[in-house]
Amino acid sequence: MSISQEKKMDLLVSFCKRRGYVYPDSEIYGGFANAFDFGPYGTELKNNIRDEWWKRFVHMRTDVVGVDTPIIQNPKVWEASGHLQNFSDPLVECKRCHHRFRADHLLEARQSEPGYDKEAPVDLKDVRCPECGGELTDMMYFNLMLKTSIGVREDAASVAYLRPEAAVGMFTTWKNIRDSMRVKLPFGIAQIGKAFRNEITPGNFIFRTREFEVMEIEYFVKPDDASRAIDMWLEAYKKWCTEVLRLDPAHVQYREVPESDRAFYSARSIDPEYAFPFGMNELGGLVNRTDYDLSRHQKYSKQDLRWLDPETNQKILPYVIEPTWGLTRSVLAVLCEHLDIDEADTSDGDKEPRMVLRLPPRLAPVKVAVFPLQKKDAMTSTAKKLVAAFHAADIVVEYDDSASIGKRYRRQDEIGTPWCLTVDVESASDASVTVRERDSMSQERIALNDVVAWIHQHII
Ligand code: GAP
Repeated sequence: MSISQEKKMDLLVSFCKRRGYVYPDSEIYGGFANAFDFGPYGTELKNNIRDEWWKRFVHMRTDVVGVDTPIIQNPKVWEASGHLQNFSDPLVECKRCHHRFRADHLLEARQSEPGYDKEAPVDLKDVRCPECGGELTDMMYFNLMLKTSIGVREDAASVAYLRPEAAVGMFTTWKNIRDSMRVKLPFGIAQIGKAFRNEITPGNFIFRTREFEVMEIEYFVKPDDASRAIDMWLEAYKKWCTEVLRLDPAHVQYREVPESDRAFYSARSIDPEYAFPFGMNELGGLVNRTDYDLSRHQKYSKQDLRWLDPETNQKILPYVIEPTWGLTRSVLAVLCEHLDIDEADTSDGDKEPRMVLRLPPRLAPVKVAVFPLQKKDAMTSTAKKLVAAFHAADIVVEYDDSASIGKRYRRQDEIGTPWCLTVDVESASDASVTVRERDSMSQERIALNDVVAWIHQHII
């Protein structure tokens, strides 16, 4: 049964809270707008996506090294990077209700109204407040950097900023990597971590929040190799989407960003976008940042950041290709993609709707659930031994001996657990368990001695 796009977000938000994926933050104090807590299963899912990304793009490559740089850096960094001057969004405010909006979002919404001529330029003067219909102010630019202060005094000298992207720490540590790691171009530096932006219009659940996580690579190349590197990373990200996140290719597009919409330093940008229930929206980015960052940091730090080409004995400032991917947004895309409702048999032979999260096994928070059919010693002790065997094999397992078997299946289906194992009366005589697969609901008997290895083999 397919869920309508309008209903999907409401369903997903309530599902996330009910099943321990994502909760509203500070709820006991009335909440805090656009802030969320990842619950136990949400944290596992996010960590699994993060670990798969790191494995694929750092451990399994010979040309990428990983780092972990601070969220709060020397404030001069943000002057050099251009963030203090340029990291802003166009803002308009309603003169009547004082709601604030991103001007570019209002223009986009206006252009997609039915009957609107998409080719005609849109003038903000023709747009009214979406909340109350009031008149909007002229557009102004609003800096998205979140400020804090360091030390015991709060004055101009103590001002510091929370990083709005993970990228910049990789540029400021580039010289140390170059000098300590004997790397050769092309090579990349990767980092995963939190970023902070004082967004004008956060929203759509965890899609746009003020605090979020990104997985970024800065890939340093000779200028002539930039276009080849973009092609290589585009292919790598297409495979990441289909092989790991298992997003249907029909739900993903790789949008060539026109020059007018690109960051001023970008020579080319491709935005991978996913068909979220609220529309096609950005999941990541693939940008040719040229030598903008290294040349700025070279100028402001007065350090030589060039690389010595051993073939020509000439020093060059490498270009940077940046494949970036939203981790928080990946969690949302994966949940949207894999949450489904189908039908299951009831005990009296009828059918009932079943909510099922068809997560790829390697992303699933719990890989396997073990149930004793009844709370009888022979069954519970075998089931608990099985749980210990999964722990020893480093496979995340849940034990459940409450409620009917049907209810236990339903709960694990919703969490996204790929397999449920039931220890029953026959297990004592045939030394086997019933393995029930989440998506097909098919069942087979597997020997107790083999079942851990079987599950291990199937976690792909
Ligand atoms: N270093 C490049 C950079 O920061 P970006 O497109 O501004 O590029 C990278 O951000 C990714 O971070 C986006 O593609 C998106 O997935 C994610 N992202 C950006 N702003 C976000 C927000 N407010 N909430 C959640 N994720 C966000």
